[in-house]
Amino acid sequence: MKSKQMKVGVFTSGGDAPGMNACIRAAVRTALHAGKSVVGIYQGYQGMIDANFQEMTSRSVSNIIQLGGTILKTARCAAFRTTEGRQLAYDHIKAAGIDALIAIGGDGTFTGAEVFSREFDIPVVCIPGTIDNDLYGSDFTLGYDTATNTVIEAIDKIRDTAASHDRLFFVEVMGRDSGCIALNAGIAGGAEAILLPEKATGIETLCNQLEVAAKSKKSSTIVIVAEGEENGGAYNVAKEVKQRFDFYDTKVTILGHLQRGGSPSSFDRVLASRLGYAAVQQLLAGETRIMVGLRGNEIKTTPLDEVLNKKAFKLSKDMLEMMEVLSI
Ligand code: F6P
Repeated sequence: MKSKQMKVGVFTSGGDAPGMNACIRAAVRTALHAGKSVVGIYQGYQGMIDANFQEMTSRSVSNIIQLGGTILKTARCAAFRTTEGRQLAYDHIKAAGIDALIAIGGDGTFTGAEVFSREFDIPVVCIPGTIDNDLYGSDFTLGYDTATNTVIEAIDKIRDTAASHDRLFFVEVMGRDSGCIALNAGIAGGAEAILLPEKATGIETLCNQLEVAAKSKKSSTIVIVAEGEENGGAYNVAKEVKQRFDFYDTKVTILGHLQRGGSPSSFDRVLASRLGYAAVQQLLAGETRIMVGLRGNEIKTTPLDEVLNKKAFKLSKDMLEMMEVLSI
């Protein structure tokens, strides 16, 4: 594939993340600059199955670097998990002349890309795009920084009202099985406690922490609950705590999908540009079944099977300990 004409198909798949548009822009323009043609595949794997393709020019990606979401749309596609679905997808991309792929998404996207690339011998380079920051091989995933800042903004606002009413708030944040958003937004927002999937904190332990907060006469208390933690979510935790401390005026806020939207931060825009650029360069160099990621401040590649089989643990023990000290 090294020097011949190449038609690159670019798509986003799984949950959208701020920075995906900046990444599409970088990939499209880098490929065009190298003299290759580019096709946008709409709605991820579903778009391959439906032959939902559009030729991309440099103008197709004008004025999108600042936009959240993804102009290529996205989907979670069950049909692509079947052999028949993938065959149909391959028939369509072959008919469209697409002979290399750039996939922007999370582990579900990468699993599909790995299988598809092996089955049909089509080169694919993946780019980590998910607010969860849960992928091995990249210190950060696209969208995580923006989502964390969105959560911090929300915590700050909740703090204003919590302090005015002397209330205890439980704020549930996204992240699936990863506590990255919860821990970092919790530290930055001065949370009194953080419940994480990676570190079991039972209700008893939480109540002890809250007792300390109550005794030290805090005017507001905010507990960040990561959606993947073990106690069943913010409503459940709030109910159990209320049974134990009925003097607390408790409230629950589920931040939900607002964490996925919004204009990407400068960090995400730059990361997206670097990763989109690097992904095309890797395809041009003949690489396949790899992910491009950020390690230290350098763009590095990791084989897809390693990304999919190794666990990313991005919460440092130091930070967990520090969080407890700073919340007293
Ligand atoms: O993977 C990103 C994410 O936002 C997770 O944090 C969350 O668990 C999930 O997607 C929600 O998925 P959906 O938008 O399909 O409900």
